[in-house]
Amino acid sequence: MKLTPQQLEQFDREGYLFFPGQFTPEEMKSLNEAVPELYARREAYNVREKGKDAVRTNFAAHMYSKPFAKLARHPRMVQPVMDLFAEEVYMHQFKINGKAAFEGDVWQWHQDYGTWLNDDMMPTERAMNVAIFLDDVNEFNGPLMFIPGSHKKGVVEARHDLTTTSYPLWTVDDELIAMLVERAGGKNGGIVSPHGPAGSMILFHSCLVHASGSNLSPWNRVSVYLSLCAVSNHIGRFKRPEYIAHRNFAPIRCLPDDCLLKDYPVDLPWKDGVPSSALETTTMPFDEMREAA
Ligand code: SIN
Ligand code: MN
Repeated sequence: MKLTPQQLEQFDREGYLFFPGQFTPEEMKSLNEAVPELYARREAYNVREKGKDAVRTNFAAHMYSKPFAKLARHPRMVQPVMDLFAEEVYMHQFKINGKAAFEGDVWQWHQDYGTWLNDDMMPTERAMNVAIFLDDVNEFNGPLMFIPGSHKKGVVEARHDLTTTSYPLWTVDDELIAMLVERAGGKNGGIVSPHGPAGSMILFHSCLVHASGSNLSPWNRVSVYLSLCAVSNHIGRFKRPEYIAHRNFAPIRCLPDDCLLKDYPVDLPWKDGVPSSALETTTMPFDEMREAA
């Protein structure tokens, strides 16, 4: 799938591209079927909502679940990102966000690159977010919201919020959000929210400011979020466990386009459990580690 010059121009202007129905219901079937068993696991990689059993986010399923390992190598997802960066990409982060019916909590306003810079020392913003809907997304089940064009601001000031939800996040304060929304058109397009059927895909810039409300509806809103980083832009320290911020900077090798419908061999290195090395962390940047060695 090649992006058109109009799509490239739209991405540059708005900071995101929406592809409704990018994957068919048949292609989504094996992914959807795998989620309940993954969420039932009592593992560190399942982060539950504050005070609840519902899974907020599951990390790194592509390392231990075959359907998700195939999605992580899907050319319809990886190729447009390589086109945008004109470079190969590796998987920086892979998560399946639950946003469960009635229980799914908010994601505060933030930029993802803020976290990748502050926590992981990723050198530049050359990393892309991809969202793939496993459920239909509508105005009621906590859809993602964007401030179009906010990526043009680069990295904005953020505060490490450790209390609002069960997951720490570098968040942007209300005053700046109000200003960015106004600048983007206020009530006329200052906030947008792509809705669509399961199988839809969004590419969004790592500096695009985004959020989502809680899910008070009776419909789950499970979505996969993949973060693909240009290989030359890999992170500079391992402050977070490897299941959150990956340490294998090898370029993704795509499978054929029909990989979600057919059997293809894929590596599942964490199939029998997450190795203890993946839980080890350090605040020391690579540069300093090299000097100390
Ligand atoms: C995220 O920003 O990483 C997740 C947002 C969401 O699931 O709504
Ligand atoms: Mn985010």
